[in-house]
Amino acid sequence: MISSGLMEALSIAPSLLAADFADIAGALARIEASGADWIHLDVMDGRFVPNITFGAKMVADIRPRSKLVLDVHLMTEDPASLVEAFAEAGSDFITFHAEAVVHAHRLIERIRALGARPGVAIVPSTPLSAIEEILPFVDLVLVMTVNPGFGGQGLIPSCLDKVRRLAALRTEKALSFLLSVDGGVNGSTYRDCADAGAEVFVMGSAFFTAKDPCLEVRNARGLPV
Ligand code: DX5
Ligand code: ZN
Repeated sequence: MISSGLMEALSIAPSLLAADFADIAGALARIEASGADWIHLDVMDGRFVPNITFGAKMVADIRPRSKLVLDVHLMTEDPASLVEAFAEAGSDFITFHAEAVVHAHRLIERIRALGARPGVAIVPSTPLSAIEEILPFVDLVLVMTVNPGFGGQGLIPSCLDKVRRLAALRTEKALSFLLSVDGGVNGSTYRDCADAGAEVFVMGSAFFTAKDPCLEVRNARGLPV
């Protein structure tokens, strides 16, 4: 169960993937100043996705510098081998891909036992039926709205239908996971994501290329600017 406070408003989660990796401190300062409340950390192993980013040390180094929610997205072939290190590093959410795991329920329980909040992610080609049985056990469902691996791609509109159906299932079954959208979330797509029922907006390139990231965050939240 997640605290009701987390459900109250849209959470904006800038993704470090789009930051300058030679200036992570600058990226953190930009995120803190923007009014965003989460930091999304994309972990890629060059196998589950054709790209490599960083490991648990990134989370461990950021943790003492930020009180924001650290939202770790594992795009890796063997997430079970990594969750302990990421939990110890201070991750708040640890989300793994359903496509990479056979015993998802076991991994969810392990993440929770390690003191982090478990999340499950699905790529655009994975149907909801792949995660339906585990929805009661997760704190977050991340719907990939692009094929994972790279920032700056266009949102695939049909993925929002999965968000809509997940939101309906959540109500129908009285569940309380957060619904996160990841990929191509920007000024042209915020409203569609929110209308579909998402409340966590992962934003990579839209956030880091914005002239005014505060404005970007307020716009995404649908607040007056
Ligand atoms: C892609 C990552 C995303 C990425 C989104 O595989 O999971 O989190 O940072 O980047 P944009 O917002 O540029 O699509
Ligand atoms: Zn991500």
